[in-house]
Amino acid sequence: MEQTNTEFELRGLNHCALVCKDMQRTVDFYSGVLGMKLLKTIDLPGGLGQHFFFDAGGGQAFAFFWFTEAQERQPGISNPRELIDPAEFHRDPTGFISSHGSMNHFAFDIAPEKIEEYRKKLMDKGIKVSEVMHHDTSPGQAAPEVTDKVWVSSIYFLDPDGVMLEFAAWQRPFSAEQGDRWDHQPATPMDVPRYRKAAEEAAAE
Ligand SMILES: [Fe+2]
Repeated sequence: MEQTNTEFELRGLNHCALVCKDMQRTVDFYSGVLGMKLLKTIDLPGGLGQHFFFDAGGGQAFAFFWFTEAQERQPGISNPRELIDPAEFHRDPTGFISSHGSMNHFAFDIAPEKIEEYRKKLMDKGIKVSEVMHHDTSPGQAAPEVTDKVWVSSIYFLDPDGVMLEFAAWQRPFSAEQGDRWDHQPATPMDVPRYRKAAEEAAAE
C-alpha cells in the first residue's frame, strides 16, 4: 500500500505488547503451536516480571509482559467475551466487544492462498478456529466465497489468555468502484443513542 503519511514516515509495526498470566504457557503457544521464534527475553528489573518478544515476520515483533502484580483478565472488558465466528455471530453479535482502551484482537498478515490450509493446520494442532470469513462491501459485509467485493479474508482464534488473534489476507487494493469507503463521519459518545436504536431495530428483524 502506498505511503500517504506526510507527517511521520511510519514503517509498519515495530511491536505490540500484551500481558499474559503464564509466560511458559504463552511460549508454548506462540513458539510451540504458531512457530514464532523468540527474538529476545528480558527479566524486568526489580522483580516486576518478564518481557518476551516473538518474531511475527516482516521485521515485526509480538511481545508479552508477565507481571507478578497484573490483574486477572475480565472477559468482555479486557478481551472479547467470545471468539468472532460467523457460525455463531447471529447468536450473540455483542460477543466480540471489549472495553475502551483494550486491544480487541490482533491480525497477523498471511497470503490469501494459505488461509484454508492454515485453518486446517491450526485445527489439527487442537486450536478452535472460526469459519473463514470473507469480509466484503455488501450490506451484510460478508460473503460465502471470494468475490470482487471481498477486501479481506479472515480466520479467528484465541490464545491461552483469551487474546483474540486473526490470520488476515488482503484480497485486493481498496477501491471506490468495489464499494470501499473512507467518508463515514467518525462517531462520538453523542451518537450512542442513534446506534442503539439501530441495534434494537436490527434485533427486531
Ligand atoms: Fe480484524
